[in-house]
Parts: sequence; C-alpha cells; structure tokens
Amino acid sequence: MKKIIALMLALLMVGAVLAACGGTQTTDATADSAKTTLTMATNAYFPPYEYYEGEKIVGIDAEVAQAIADKLGMELKIVDIEFDSIITGVQTGKYDMGMAGMTVTDERKESVDFSDSYATGIQSVIVPENSPIASVDDILAEGATYKVGVQLSTTGDIYISDDLGDAAAERVTQFQTGNDAVAALVAGKVDAVVIDNEPAKSYVAANEGLKILDTEYVVEDYAICFAKDNTELKDKVNGALKVLIEDGTVKGIVDKYITAE
Ligand code: ARG
Repeated sequence: MKKIIALMLALLMVGAVLAACGGTQTTDATADSAKTTLTMATNAYFPPYEYYEGEKIVGIDAEVAQAIADKLGMELKIVDIEFDSIITGVQTGKYDMGMAGMTVTDERKESVDFSDSYATGIQSVIVPENSPIASVDDILAEGATYKVGVQLSTTGDIYISDDLGDAAAERVTQFQTGNDAVAALVAGKVDAVVIDNEPAKSYVAANEGLKILDTEYVVEDYAICFAKDNTELKDKVNGALKVLIEDGTVKGIVDKYITAE
C-alpha cells in the first residue's frame, strides 16, 4: 500500500513538473496512462523522411515523431517494416502509429484514422537523363509500352496502376522499396519510376544519369495513421502536433532535411 501511495505521489509530481514546464502545451503528459512507449511503424528507405544513418533511423518523420513523444512524455520506439505491412500492423494494434511519409487516401481511411497533416507530398516521375519520356502522358499514351517501377502499395503504385488499367499487369513492376525501384531504373529494367518528390530528389542526387520530370503527377498530404479505435492517442498526437507546427518545430525539422531550391 505504501508503495502504491509513493508511486502515485511520484506520478503526481511528474505531472506537476510537466504542467509547470509545459507553457501553452495543450496535451496531457501520460502520467494517467500506464503505457509510456510510443511505437511507430515505418519503412526506412524513404529519404529524407526516414532512412538509416548507420544503425539509426533518422529523417523528418523520425524527428517529428520524437518531438511528439517528448511532448507527450512518452518514449519513442521506431520499427522498420515493409511499407505494405504498416496499415495492418497499426490496425491490429501491433504498433501504436504508422508514420512513413504516408499519404492520406479515402481508401486507407476505411482501414485507419489519420492525424492532421504535417507535410505535403508530390508524386513525381524519375527517368534516365536521355529518356524520350517528357511527361506522365507519354507513359499513358495509346500504344506506349514504357515500363514503370514503383514501391509496392504506395500511392505512386496505386495511381499509375489505375491510370494504366489492364496494361498495368504487364507494365508496372512493384518493388519492396524505392531503392529497389531506382536500382531497376539504373539497370534499364524499367523506363521510369513513380515516387514521392523528396525521395526522388535524393535518389537522383545519389545516382548518375537520372532526372525528375518537371510535371507533378499528383499532390498529396502526409499524415500519421492510427487504429480506428485509438482516438485517445490520435487526439493526443494531434494536440502535440498542433503545438509543434505553431511554434515552428516542424518547419525547423523540415528545413533541416529539405534545402529550399
Ligand atoms: N506517400 C506514398 C504513400 O503513402 C509513399 C510512402 C512510402 N513511404 C515509405 N516510408 N517507404 O503511399
């Protein structure tokens, strides 16, 4: 009993200290919840949002998630899995949230809930520098036979596969990571890669002889996903995110990784 009282007092004190330091903080620390680990599922081959620096996963998502966890008094744990498994893992409660430069789509909203958006994404097309492809329309043109590489189950995959319709089975190759798709492009196995613009820039910078087409294919919003019954965590994260967006923390992190053109 004494122990329990001591523990409760300790928790109250932590709560008071956090409240005192919090300033305009709108979110509660987790003094009232037993769970202190915030498990984030990602797919860490997506620079500058998430990628490995040695053993460590760094990037915009990793840092924004860390800032959120700090605000909530939780300990962040990042787990690297296939992009394709993130939504199911979050749905089944294996992970608390998914954060992976993930685009908000109506279809995904049927399986998971999304936080407020914290970044904008653009689907771009990477081609070899000397490619005859000048726009997405060239890929979609009647009679065209260009092959396209994508990361499995990403919006790039979904859009180009939809747009190509029946021809997709033959012309779209789905890779487990963006890296693999770009490697296939460099090897001449596909003629173009559809992928988010910021990773596209990293890949073009890292590989000779590639360029990004000027035309934007689709503009989209990135957000964090949660299990549908986990509104408590979603609300807390949204609260923290709002503060971090308003006080410029999110912008600071984005600017650190994305140099303005
Ligand atoms: N924005 C795209 C999507 O949501 C691609 C995200 C891929 N992210 C990753 N970490 N590999 O479908």
